[in-house]
Formats: sequence, C-alpha cells, structure tokens
Amino acid sequence: MREHDNMWPPNLKCLVMLLMLMILNVSGAFVGINVGTDISNVPSAVDIVSILKEKKIQHIRLLNSDHQMLTALANTGIEVMVGVPNDQLLRVGQSRPTAADWINKNVAAYIPATNITYIAVGNEVLTTIPNAALVLVPALQFLQSALLAANLNTQVKISSPHSTDMISKPFPPSTATFNSTWSSIMLQYLQFLKNTGSSFMLNAQPYYDYVRGQGIFPLEYALFRSLNPDSQISDPNTNLFYTNMFDAMVDATYNSMQAMNFTDIPVMVTASGWPWHGAQNEQAANVDNALAYNTNLIRHVLNNSGTPSQPNNQVSTYIFELFNEDLRAGLVSDKNWGIMFPNATTVYTLTFEDMGTTSADSAVLRGTFCVANSSAPPSALKQSLDWACGPGSANCSAIQPGQPCYKSDDIVAVASYAFNDYYHRTQASGGTCNFNSTAMVTSTDPSHGSCIFAGSTGSNGSSGGEASGSISPDNFATQTQLCWLTHLVATLLPILVFL
Ligand SMILES: *[C@@H]1O[C@H](CO)[C@@H](O)[C@H](O)[C@H]1NC(C)=O
Ligand SMILES: *[C@@H]1O[C@H](CO)[C@@H](O)[C@H](O)[C@H]1NC(C)=O
Ligand SMILES: *[C@@H]1O[C@H](CO)[C@@H](O)[C@H](O)[C@H]1NC(C)=O
Ligand SMILES: *[C@@H]1O[C@H](CO)[C@@H](O)[C@H](O)[C@H]1NC(C)=O
Ligand SMILES: *[C@@H]1O[C@H](CO)[C@@H](O)[C@H](O)[C@H]1NC(C)=O
Ligand SMILES: *[C@@H]1O[C@H](CO)[C@@H](O)[C@H](O)[C@H]1NC(C)=O
Ligand SMILES: *[C@@H]1O[C@H](CO)[C@@H](O)[C@H](O)[C@H]1NC(C)=O
Ligand SMILES: *[C@@H]1O[C@H](CO)[C@@H](O)[C@H](O)[C@H]1NC(C)=O
Ligand SMILES: *[C@@H]1O[C@H](CO)[C@@H](O)[C@H](O)[C@H]1NC(C)=O
Repeated sequence: MREHDNMWPPNLKCLVMLLMLMILNVSGAFVGINVGTDISNVPSAVDIVSILKEKKIQHIRLLNSDHQMLTALANTGIEVMVGVPNDQLLRVGQSRPTAADWINKNVAAYIPATNITYIAVGNEVLTTIPNAALVLVPALQFLQSALLAANLNTQVKISSPHSTDMISKPFPPSTATFNSTWSSIMLQYLQFLKNTGSSFMLNAQPYYDYVRGQGIFPLEYALFRSLNPDSQISDPNTNLFYTNMFDAMVDATYNSMQAMNFTDIPVMVTASGWPWHGAQNEQAANVDNALAYNTNLIRHVLNNSGTPSQPNNQVSTYIFELFNEDLRAGLVSDKNWGIMFPNATTVYTLTFEDMGTTSADSAVLRGTFCVANSSAPPSALKQSLDWACGPGSANCSAIQPGQPCYKSDDIVAVASYAFNDYYHRTQASGGTCNFNSTAMVTSTDPSHGSCIFAGSTGSNGSSGGEASGSISPDNFATQTQLCWLTHLVATLLPILVFL
C-alpha cells in the first residue's frame, strides 16, 4: 500500500507532462532494421521472425514482398516496410493494372494480420538505374491509386529511398541541393510526398563518405564520437555545429527540399549502418567501428533530438542490416554489414542505451567510484574514454564543453567521469571497472563543485544517476525526460534490445 501511495503522484505528474508533450507535438522516433536475404543459406521465414521477436525488434524493412515472410509476420505486431524491387519497377510504373495487381497480391492480401505500413518503391532508382527514372513517379502514383481503391491509403504510405549521392554538394548542409539533372522528377516526387503525407526516404551511409573522403572527415565525426570540439564541423552560413555526419546528411536533405520550396516533408532514414569486416584495404570496416556506429546511431535516434537545423523533427531510422548477405555483389565489406550471421550467431552485440537503467544506480556502489589510473598512457585513456562514451553508453553530457565536468586539458578527470558513470550504470548487470587496465576502483569521491559523480554521498549530492523512483520536484526538464523515457520503455517505443 505504502509503495502504491508513493507511486501515484509521480505517475500522475508523468501523465500530465506526457499530455503536454503531445500537445507540443513531440513524438518518438523509432529504430528498425533492414532484413535482406541475398544469402546462400537463407534462414526460414519462421526462424527470421523468431530472431526478430527475441531481439524485440518492432520495425523491419524488407527489400521485397516475400510471401513467406509476410505470412510469418502475421499477428506479431511488427511493423513492416515492403519493397518493390528495382527489377519490378518498370512493370509497375508502366501499367496501372500491374500496379493494382501488385498491391492486391503483396499488400492487401496480408493486411490487417501483417502490419504493413510503408512501401518503398525501388531503391536509389535515380542513381543506380537512371534508365528507369521516368517510371518512378508513375509507379508511385499507380500504387497510390490502388491503395486508395483498396481503402488502405491511411494505413500504408508510399515513398522511394534515395541515396545521399542525389545531393550534389552536401556540405555545408545549408546550401545543399539535389543534382539538377533530376529536378523535374524530384519536383514530382516531392509533390507526391506532400500530397500523400508521406516521408522522404533517405539511405544515409556515413561509411561510404568517410572512406571516399580519405581523411577529410575525422572518424569520430562519422561514428558520432565528436567529443573533441576540433572534430565538430560548423556550417558557415547558419553557425550550426555538426557533431556527426549523419545529422549533416539529413539536414542536407531538408535543405535540398527547401531549395525546391518543400518545407514540411519529414525525412525517414531507410538504411544506415557500418560494415564490420572488409578486405585488407578496407581498414575502416571493423567490428569496433560497426559497434560504435550502430550503438551511437540508435542512441541518437531514440534520444529524439532531431538534427541541428530541425531539432523538433525526429528521424526514424532502419539499421542496415540484420544478416550478412554473402551473395551481394561488390567488395568484401559489402557482404558484411550484418549484426548476425545467417545461422543466427551474433557478429557483435549491440547494446542499446537501456533507458530503464538510467535511474537504477546500485545502492551497493554508493561511495564507490571507478576512476582513471593517472599512470596509464593518455592515448590508452583516450581510447577507453571513446569506448565508454560510445559503445559503453556512459552519459557523457557532463564532460562536454561548457558542462560542469568538462576539463579541456585533463584527460584523467574527464575519463574518470565517464568510467564512473559507465560503472554505476552497468555494474549490476556485469559491467566492470577495467577499461583495458586503465581504470581502478576508489572510495575517494572525485566530485568537485557542481561536478557530481554517480555514487556521491556528498550532502547535496544526489547524482542524477542514482535514487531510482524519486523524481526531483524542481526540474521540469529532467522530469519530462524521465517520464518520457519511462513511457517510451513502457509502451510507445519499439526498442531493440540486443542482449
Ligand atoms: C500497426 O502499426 C501502427 C503504427 O504503429 C499502429 O498504429 C497499429 O495499431 C498497428 N496495427 C496492428 C494491427 O498492429
Ligand atoms: C548529376 O547526375 C548526373 C547523372 O547521373 C551525373 O552525370 C552528374 O555527375 C551528377 N552531378 C553531380 C554534381 O553529382
Ligand atoms: C521557390 O519560391 C520562390 C519564391 O516564391 C521562387 O522565386 C522560386 O523560383 C521557387 N523555386 C522553385 C524551385 O520553384
Ligand atoms: C540528447 O538530446 C538532448 C537534447 O534533447 C541533447 O542535449 C543531448 O546532447 C542528446 N544526447 C545525445 C547522446 O545525443
Ligand atoms: C555461424 O556462422 C559463422 C560464419 O560462417 C561461423 O563462424 C559460426 O561458427 C557459425 N555458428 C554456428 C553455431 O554454426
Ligand atoms: C596504474 O597504471 C600503472 C601503469 O600502467 C600500473 O603500474 C599500476 O599498477 C596501475 N594501478 C592500479 C591501481 O591499477
Ligand atoms: C545525462 O547527464 C545529464 C547531467 O550531466 C542529465 O541532465 C541527463 O538527464 C542525463 N541523461 C540521461 C539519459 O541520463
Ligand atoms: C586495449 O589495449 C590494447 C593494447 O594496449 C589495444 O591494442 C586495444 O585496442 C585496446 N582495446 C580497447 C577496447 O581499447
Ligand atoms: C554542491 O555543493 C557545492 C559546494 O557547496 C556547490 O558548489 C554545488 O553547486 C552543489 N551542487 C549541486 C548539484 O547542488
């Protein structure tokens, strides 16, 4: 009973704040995953669906409309994007009856049991099969008419994924424009999206730009790790700072649309990932980078922070991809973007920022701190720091420039904050204070001034990270965030949890 009494007021407060958030039109972005099957030993549809369920994946993008998959996905609650493959585009775009037939056989036949919500028509059509460019918009229109006839136009949205190569000069984002070769088709495409309330689908792959840039872009910038102000990039026209290439790509897309006078079409990222293995000359394709990229991308999307130019527009994103596809043409790296082998063995473990644990500091650790060993080489500390703030999912906000624990010239202090935050978040589930032997446990509280370390018992020191269940009544922003996170965990957000 007592627990009950204590629980209600915060919940009520949460409810009120969530309503306010809804009024403010803030909605959550989701993270889904691409499920390609260009694989010599394709797992059965039933096996694929059980992998999805086990990983609590709620949104998937199929590159086709495989009927066994659509059947296996029935009554799972998983939201499905189906695809019209490029080799079917000509037929669909040249014949209204063929398009109607496509909708009936591949979409209408499976709804409502299978929750199909998007159709991606072709993939990177203008940049990969330009000879089919003229049928792209007719295909969209024919498919839309067929959806309308089947009364499915509100349940299912139609669009077509584009490569960032469509943007001729992507940087700075404020002056980006689409390649003018395709202006008339882009104009019709954007008009279609506007008329139907659909999204611009973007395949955003910082990996390729990083590799092609040959050192122009820091790796940190590609991997969402721009702790260092020197590796952030500013847009000279807007003075907006870009801490990662992903945001710059999305903003370049918004601005390219704006240059054509379309301002209210949302961007959805239909493919983004990083290969974990490549040939000898593909050094950037490795497990560390793939893990860091995908972990940070997921956190970035679920944080609902939008982009620098559109902070209120969340960008839902489909990770590329679930399985390695050994039959894909191309380089060694092209076959190794998966987080799993087709035999269901995990290539690397993706840990999502477990929002449920942000307020779950272990009482056992009160008064115990994990700090950097000041005798460790600075380069090793830097490496461990990058890991803690990246894949380790430590909350490194407080060590950003301008924040209480930021010290530009003291890697030991900054790393200590990150190590300690990681340790307090993860100790209960097996996290250790090791960091490649650069860290150690101490009982001396490193907190100073308003820089409070998790686990601090200082008189004013409730460390944001501890004290589960008690929401400080003073800080609306923190409360809203906590409520929002709790709510996301509880209901709204399809969170992928890779255990
Ligand atoms: C399908 O997904 C949409 C969007 O999340 C949701 O509103 C709807 O309830 C889902 N339908 C079914 C049958 O699960
Ligand atoms: C624009 O697209 C055309 C046709 O694909 C291509 O030849 C040209 O190089 C592109 N221009 C730029 C600046 O990317
Ligand atoms: C966008 O609108 C402005 C002002 O109305 C106009 O001058 C310009 O030509 C338009 N651009 C395009 C691509 O339609
Ligand atoms: C999360 O979003 C907030 C603002 O909404 C931003 O200040 C913070 O830096 C973001 N964190 C990450 C890890 O992107
Ligand atoms: C799964 O496939 C990978 C790559 O082919 C292989 O290394 C691994 O041993 C396989 N695992 C099982 C359980 O068969
Ligand atoms: C700190 O690092 C130094 C040098 O690597 C090592 O000799 C020492 O044992 C470490 N101290 C602790 C407490 O781990
Ligand atoms: C991260 O830490 C900052 C304070 O340093 C806090 O305001 C914020 O709520 C924390 N974020 C999460 C997700 O715990
Ligand atoms: C751990 O240290 C070794 C050698 O000191 C280094 O090669 C390795 O990359 C480090 N690993 C991590 C995750 O920092
Ligand atoms: C904690 O106390 C110190 C010194 O009394 C003060 O400078 C700091 O701002 C306080 N921190 C918080 C979070 O209230």
